[in-house]
Amino acid sequence: MDKVESARKDDMQSIGSDLSEQIKAKTRDIHVRAENTQLMLNYQKGQITLPQYKLLLFSLYEIYRALEEELDRNASHPGVSPIYFPQELARLETIERDLEHFFGKEWQKRVIVPAATQRYTQRLHTIGKDDPNLLVAHAYTRYLGDLSGGQVLGKITQKSFGLSSGEGVSFFSFPGVSSPNRFKQLYRSRMNSIELTKEEREAVLEEALMAFEHNIQVFDDLQKMLSITEETSENQQATLIRPFSILHWSLGICAALATVGIGIYAS
Ligand code: HEM
Repeated sequence: MDKVESARKDDMQSIGSDLSEQIKAKTRDIHVRAENTQLMLNYQKGQITLPQYKLLLFSLYEIYRALEEELDRNASHPGVSPIYFPQELARLETIERDLEHFFGKEWQKRVIVPAATQRYTQRLHTIGKDDPNLLVAHAYTRYLGDLSGGQVLGKITQKSFGLSSGEGVSFFSFPGVSSPNRFKQLYRSRMNSIELTKEEREAVLEEALMAFEHNIQVFDDLQKMLSITEETSENQQATLIRPFSILHWSLGICAALATVGIGIYAS
């Protein structure tokens, strides 16, 4: 075993037996990778555009639709019930409100997501049916992320687009959570109360890595779509000389179809 690997093992041993501590330690490195994806770096620099944000919302919509459907369905499962907080955490309706704000009532006809988002939602449905113990890894990754770095991203979004009334950024707001830090403590203690065998716990920790990996792949696919979309729209803007429109955007998206493999839903 090399030195790095042995140091990491020692590190894991000093972490203790709480699931919340182990999951945080296990995902520390991949969290750094997620933070450093191009999309997240641009976001942190306030360099996200409205079309980019709208495209991200579509993927979040599909991800939370799958996650919350599986959490609801397994609400009384012993691996889910302790961390089931629909009143405080559910995001699906908030995203729907944001999408309606930007696209109007017919927004569902416009949903476009990359292949990585479809793979992520498929995984959520598979474990929801076959192994609900693993759902905690995904719920942790998304909700605790939303209550941590996500809160900073919410402020950046609001500022970047001048959405002072909060319209279009409901996703970032948790009216049922008065203190994100206190809530995260409660969530961690609920995670720690889940009874898991050694093997089941190992599987949850591995699933948490997979949850981050899915998010990274979604961000990378979105970034590719966005780069192509922007290149296309820049060229078109040069010739058409008119402001960016949804038609523009759609044309760019079509160019991106070939590269990323995109699902277009009219649900
Ligand atoms: C712009 C990118 C991001 C920034 C700046 C950021 C920042 C942070 C910060 C400051 C914390 C608090 C750490 C602590 O309390 O010790 C945190 C926690 C967390 N983040 Fe992120 N994050 C980012 C992206 C992500 C992404 C993409 C995910 C997953 C999809 C994620 C998932 C999490 C999770 C699960 C936690 C809770 C860790 C724990 O307390 O166990 N983050 N993040």
